Amino acid sequence: MKLPHPIQYQGSKRNLASTILKYFPSDVGKLIEPFAGTAAISVAAAYEGYTNAFIINELNKPLLELLKLIIEQPCEIANFYEKIWNAQHKDSIKHYYTIREEFNRTNDCRLFLYLLARCAKGAVRYNKDGCFNQSPDKRRKGTMPQTMKKNIYGVSSLLKGKAKLSAYDYRLFLKELSENDLVYMDPPYQGVCGNRDLRYYSGIHYQEFIEYLGELNDKNISYIISYDGKTGHKTYGKKLPNQLELKHLEIMVGRSTQATLLGKNEITYESLYLSPALQNRLNKNQRNNEAKQLNIFESNHA
Ligand SMILES: C[S@@+](CC[C@H](N)C(=O)[O-])C[C@H]1O[C@@H](n2cnc3c(N)ncnc32)[C@H](O)[C@@H]1O
Repeated sequence: MKLPHPIQYQGSKRNLASTILKYFPSDVGKLIEPFAGTAAISVAAAYEGYTNAFIINELNKPLLELLKLIIEQPCEIANFYEKIWNAQHKDSIKHYYTIREEFNRTNDCRLFLYLLARCAKGAVRYNKDGCFNQSPDKRRKGTMPQTMKKNIYGVSSLLKGKAKLSAYDYRLFLKELSENDLVYMDPPYQGVCGNRDLRYYSGIHYQEFIEYLGELNDKNISYIISYDGKTGHKTYGKKLPNQLELKHLEIMVGRSTQATLLGKNEITYESLYLSPALQNRLNKNQRNNEAKQLNIFESNHA
């Protein structure tokens, strides 16, 4: 799948989207992404035509505002990016730090697009005061304006007029959900720094998350969660508890570059959990498909 992706973001699920979409039921009402990041799964689902109704939520406000601008005013953000990208030629490192300082002062989401394109590994980092403090990538100048424009317009054409965007905490979505919706959750991983994950604006509390999943189960909501995983024999984070009756799958991400650097050949897997309601829906879809195939087979022999 060649998906448009204007925002560089470590943790984006763009490369895993086609695998994750395999677990979508055929009849998705709304697709809800409470931890949207770059909304890679909504973009992929729109591209594949799963639904025309999306709720995209992301607590990091500048990131959410940037998504909104990309979807609703592609021309404005593409032109702004081109201007700011072209202004870096004299001294691109100094330019980056000037823009970073301006972004931390103003929170202007348009500056954020340039910082994400230009920062080391597309990895956001925040200091304890919530200021963006990632360094620039010294070797690259960031996505070329023409490529950026194509990606921006690509996302806009897939989601314009179909997506409702918000910057709330993930737990505020319970009331909006109904049984034919699908919720895809990609929360910050159970990081090394407890609930304070410097990779993101905010971490989440494990126990609160478990309770929230219990409430979703009580309402018979279909959901998919990406949550931690393992590299070689090393497992990250606690597994989600059995009482939630989730189906646990491991999807292959690829070879770990860090392990390869150390001369090891280790594969990284990510955990994917499917809710009980989703498991039922998928089983029903499969039975319907088998019945349809049987019908075709029977009519061929009539
Ligand atoms: C792993 S990233 C999601 C990446 C996304 N799937 C993508 O493809 O780009 C997790 C996101 O959750 C957001 N987040 C953290 N705490 C949150 C909360 N309490 N409610 C909503 N979003 C939150 C972070 O800002 C971060 O962007």
